[in-house]
Amino acid sequence: MDDSQIDSYDDADDQKSALAAAASELFPDEHPIFADKQLLQIGHIPDGDRIVGRDSEIRSLADQLVDATDGNSPENVIIYGKPGTGKSLVSKYVTQLTEVKARTSGHDVATAYIECNEDNTETQAVATIGQTLNREGSSVTVPDTGLSTSRYYKRLWDLLDAEYETVIVILDEVDLLEDDSVLMELSRAEEAEKTTCNIGIIAISNKTKFVENLGQRTTSSLQETELFFPPYDAEQLQAILRNRTDAFREGVLSDGVVELCAALAAREHGDARKALDILRNAGKIAYEEGDDRVTEAHVRNAQERAEIDRFREMIADSTVQSQAVILSLALLTQHGDGDVFTSGDIYPVYEFVCEQCDLDSLTERRIRDLLKEQDFLDIIQSTKRSRGHARGIGREHRLIDDATIVRETILSEPRFSDLFESVSESQFATAIARS
Ligand SMILES: Nc1ncnc2c1ncn2[C@@H]1O[C@H](COP(=O)(O)OP(=O)(O)O)[C@@H](O)[C@H]1O
Ligand SMILES: [Mg+2]
Repeated sequence: MDDSQIDSYDDADDQKSALAAAASELFPDEHPIFADKQLLQIGHIPDGDRIVGRDSEIRSLADQLVDATDGNSPENVIIYGKPGTGKSLVSKYVTQLTEVKARTSGHDVATAYIECNEDNTETQAVATIGQTLNREGSSVTVPDTGLSTSRYYKRLWDLLDAEYETVIVILDEVDLLEDDSVLMELSRAEEAEKTTCNIGIIAISNKTKFVENLGQRTTSSLQETELFFPPYDAEQLQAILRNRTDAFREGVLSDGVVELCAALAAREHGDARKALDILRNAGKIAYEEGDDRVTEAHVRNAQERAEIDRFREMIADSTVQSQAVILSLALLTQHGDGDVFTSGDIYPVYEFVCEQCDLDSLTERRIRDLLKEQDFLDIIQSTKRSRGHARGIGREHRLIDDATIVRETILSEPRFSDLFESVSESQFATAIARS
């Protein structure tokens, strides 16, 4: 409806009901695709009977926490495994049930859940633990900011003494904390007689090497049990998704959609978060395109968008020099022979790119180091190869993502946006062929 139509109503009530009609046309009462999109959000904790394939992990964690249900000290646990393997979910779920069980037997257990990617300093982490446990009417209060680290600890111990028998502290993505000091302080608190409260720690990490990298001092005061969460296989991912298909309206999901989402996520490394993201985004794309069913095409589209988003984030986080190197590899992949290249192949293209973009070029040795860097491993796959006795061992580099996507993403960065303005595509191809 246009403005002139609205103006033509002389009666205010008529105008109101016309607007209401327009609004409900724009925002229908019933979403055509989703019945309850909430079920697909990442933070959503599904009911226990919707948690798939984690029975033994749930059992093991419960075994470590069981003492808390009688008001005693639970064991400390480190949970590790790849992203999206249900570590956060299972920890929240089992601690929730621990609290419930403790309550029914007359004990009081509370859980503080800390996301260390948000609270990554010692002070922030301790402050957040205190604030989470700060209940209404308690005699000790923990302010948002303004205290020193040691004051925050003092408040925390006072609060625990005043209010709690047992607390469980979940430190999620614990490897993002600046150091192990929170783990140390919490695990030694009872022994050092800082507090009489029983403290159990669940430290979660996406890094499988996390435990190895922990200091000897920390592990000896933690005395932890380690639980490893393996990746899901395609069948488990399917079951996880099936349990949430009531997020969609009846009949909206076409055959094969769930299977495809699961297969795509299994190909990565069995990441349930990825599977749920793809399914949710496929639904969003179907809606945006005005379709009334979610099809395999929407799923592939969603996967592609996810890939581009992931890549954008990585590119945005990397330095201009790294971007120039990746762009050079992308251009080589498009115009050169094959898809694996040595740093010697990449370097002349890189120099050409730098020249065109007014960028100082680094030495070939620096470029070789850049190509080896960890950050690159998700963008570039580097493998050793023997080039025969005379030339020794060298490395070969290959783009993991689609070269067109990589190229377009980097060219959308301001530094590189003018690259093809002065040089034409074919001039570029010639320069690369010559290099
Ligand atoms: N076994 C499972 N059953 C149902 N949903 C799961 C399961 N494992 C993971 N999920 C869901 O997948 C997403 C990622 O899981 P999460 O626990 O955050 O993984 P992690 O902490 O290991 O990275 C969450 O939305 C979670 O609800
Ligand atoms: Mg997690």
